[in-house]
Amino acid sequence: MMSKQYIRIVLGGVFLLSLLCFSSCKHGEGEYHNIIDKIEAESVDYHGVSVSSEDFLKDLNTVEVVEGEHTFLIPERIGEIRSFACTECHTKPLSDMSSEEQKKAHWDINLVHAASGTMNCATCHNGNDMDNLKSLTGLSVNFNLSHQLCSQCHAPQFEDWKGGAHGKSVSGWAPPRVSMTCVNCHNPHKPGFDARWPARFNLQKEKERE
Ligand code: HEC
Ligand code: HEC
Ligand code: HEC
Ligand code: HEC
Repeated sequence: MMSKQYIRIVLGGVFLLSLLCFSSCKHGEGEYHNIIDKIEAESVDYHGVSVSSEDFLKDLNTVEVVEGEHTFLIPERIGEIRSFACTECHTKPLSDMSSEEQKKAHWDINLVHAASGTMNCATCHNGNDMDNLKSLTGLSVNFNLSHQLCSQCHAPQFEDWKGGAHGKSVSGWAPPRVSMTCVNCHNPHKPGFDARWPARFNLQKEKERE
């Protein structure tokens, strides 16, 4: 009894193995003998590493960041900023603006960040060079590198972000590393997040509490 079953299992195993071999050989049709060969052959040689995240990035425009020993990419911002170029309006006096629409350009911006004694629009924007941001010491900062503003006052988060601990990776684990930048998640004018209800209210827990 036992041995019959044993033979059956062995036979079944042999059958499965041959089926596996048959099907894998079938998949190997064309240029590649197996999936490993295919991965090795088709992955790009990126900085000496044979796998790459590039496929995940599709047409995302990126900018290179070099901070200390960390070099990585972040999404480009200027193309996403609705009212860029700022100098389209910020070169002429208010009286020269043609429409009410233009005059009310940023009425939707309500600064909810640090206390008003610590921060106002001019902390980050430069009236004489509106197409760039400005550091606390008056240095020009490109809109694509706005993390350089945030890092002035939020050193712990900035340190974590450089190392990949605060924020989020957009690519896979393989290089190139692409991380979201501060303003992808935080609105610079209102960087906090509102409290939210969970997406699903837990009815079961609620009933158990009753
Ligand atoms: C459609 C026209 C328009 C565009 C484009 C525009 N602005 Fe403005 N901006 C205005 C107007 C109008 C005011 C209000 C000026 C006033 O009240 O004196 C203003 C005021 C501001 C102020 C406040 C300045 C102050 O002295 O109070 C800041 C900062 C500012 N804009 C930044 C920007 C930035 C940065 C951009 C580009 C990303 C931009 N603006 C693009 C029309 C525009
Ligand atoms: C803490 C720094 C900081 C302060 C303070 C600040 N801004 Fe900005 N602002 C930024 C950054 C950074 C961006 C670019 C955000 C991005 O990449 O989307 C920006 C973008 C803008 C834009 C373009 C937004 C769009 O979607 O078109 C306008 C207009 C603007 N700021 C106006 C103002 C005005 C007016 C004030 C004052 C009420 C102000 N900002 C205060 C940092 C700041
Ligand atoms: C001039 C200094 C300064 C700059 C520049 C600055 N911040 Fe802040 N930020 C502050 C201060 C001060 C607070 C309030 C801290 C507190 O309430 O404990 C704050 C608060 C915050 C908070 C917490 C908000 C909350 O409600 O919990 C976030 C998130 C934040 N900032 C993100 C940013 C980002 C992103 C940038 C760059 C676009 C930036 N900050 C630039 C000074 C700054
Ligand atoms: C992928 C999204 C994301 C990115 C990118 C990101 N943050 Fe945050 N940040 C968060 C979240 C989520 C929190 C937690 C908010 C909460 O608890 O309410 C947070 C919290 C903060 C706080 C509040 C203090 C704290 O730790 O709770 C500060 C300040 C801050 N971030 C600054 C930054 C700065 C500066 C950068 C860029 C160098 C950055 N963040 C990049 C999502 C992000």
